Parts: sequence; C-alpha cells; structure tokens
Amino acid sequence: MRLDVVTIFPEYLEPLNVSLVGKARARGLLDVRVHDLRQWTHDRHNTVDDTPYGGGPGMVMKPEPWGEALDTIIASQEGDPVVVVPTPSGRPFDQATAVELAEKPWLIFTPARYEGIDRRVVDEYGERFEVRELSIGDYVLAGGEAPVLVMVEAVARLLPGVLGNAESHRDDSFAPGAMADLLEGPVYTKPPLWRGRGIPEVLLSGHHGRIARWRRDQAFLRTARYRPDLIERCDPAALDADDRKLLTELGWAERPDGRFGRTAEGMEE
Ligand code: ADE
Repeated sequence: MRLDVVTIFPEYLEPLNVSLVGKARARGLLDVRVHDLRQWTHDRHNTVDDTPYGGGPGMVMKPEPWGEALDTIIASQEGDPVVVVPTPSGRPFDQATAVELAEKPWLIFTPARYEGIDRRVVDEYGERFEVRELSIGDYVLAGGEAPVLVMVEAVARLLPGVLGNAESHRDDSFAPGAMADLLEGPVYTKPPLWRGRGIPEVLLSGHHGRIARWRRDQAFLRTARYRPDLIERCDPAALDADDRKLLTELGWAERPDGRFGRTAEGMEE
C-alpha cells in the first residue's frame, strides 16, 4: 500500500518510522511518503493560510498549495488514490472504515492546521477521486497530524503480513462479526501471583469452552459499563441464551424489537 501525507509539520509524522508501521515500511509492505506542504508555496514567507471569507476567528488554509501538492503527488503514479481529510467535522473513523481503507492500494492524507482547508479543495478532488472526511472522535485537536497517525496505525495493522499472527485482529474490540461489537475484556500473563493478586481460576483450567464463555461474559460486563450504546445496538441474533441471561442479571431487558435496553435498575450502575 502506498501512503502519502502532506503536512506543514513533516517531523510530526516521525512516529511512522517506528514500531509496527516502521517495520511494515522496512519490510516493503508500506510505501510511506511525507511531504512538506510549504514546498508548494511561492512567496517569501511560504504562506499556507489566510483570513476567512465572511470573517470570524482563525485562519483558513489556502487552496493553491494543496492543489499543487495533490496534482504533483497524484501525477507521480498510475491509479486513483483515496484522499483522506482528517477533520472534526467528518464522519466517525471506526474499525469498519479502517477495514475499508486497508483494501485500497493508495491513500493520500491531508492533515490541516488552523480552521481547516478552503472547501474548494475537497470539492475539486471529490469530483475526480474518492474523498473521505474523517473524524477520530468528538474533540478538537490543533491539527490533523495526530489523527493521521491514529488512522495509519489502525489501517496498517490490518494489511496482510503486518501482524505476526494472522489471527491477532480477529478478536479485536469492534472487529466486524467477532464478538458482536463488544469491548475486549481483561487479559493476564505470568507471573501467576503478583502483589498478592492471582489469575481468574478459569483461565488456568485448560477448558476451552469455559474460557471462551468467561471471556464473553467479561466482554459483556465491560461493554455494559463503558459502552452501553453498543449493547443497545447489538443485533439480537448475535446474542445466545447465556448472553441474554447475563444481560438480564445486569439489569437489562429485552425490548419488543428483540434488542436489549437498560431498565431503571440497570441505569443506576
Ligand atoms: N482535526 C482536529 N480534530 C480532529 C479530529 N477529532 N479528528 C480528525 N481530525 C481532526
């Protein structure tokens, strides 16, 4: 997969040289190219921003440097890239989006600073290419570089050959179809006793069926507590009899449409 990132802070993308993404690059699975947007400016001050039309606070990134940058990068190779625009005003970036992007041969990321990029850039390239405006969460960062790091890592670990064990992402929280969109429960390793704290007995039992059930129960406990919205959305067909029993014990009740909702009792937690 080829990844291009255009930014006014190329050094912010240094983490792409380390760990999982760095190794994937070293092994030739990822071709990452970071570009300084200012190389496509032509004035003495390498200006990339200007005041917003209509007034208001902050600055807006000028369209010309972005246009030249994207034209140059797009012309450097055959084929159509997907342009990924990190913005708090985008669609939520989630695991399903990561899976979709991992199937694309070429992504170009356009992290912005200030109040964002002149809208005409998205309109222009959106007519010729797939453009995804994506938000990594409901908070506002100072720029799109950190979101690029987040998205690249989420995508890169899904590429064939990047993770050591091909099955390592099967049980991920949010892995499609895995644990019915549940959060993963706790994990343990050696030593068996640490500061007087042991390991849940079932994990030492060697009984795969009981271990799988315990893990699923733990996933429900955690999800019900931290992300009740995921349980409310859960496809009833994905819930077995034990799941239903556990949810009922936790103060959830089956609704007429088969989905589970919190009862007044369950809301107290
Ligand atoms: N730029 C600033 N905040 C952002 C967010 N939450 N997601 C993506 N890009 C951003």
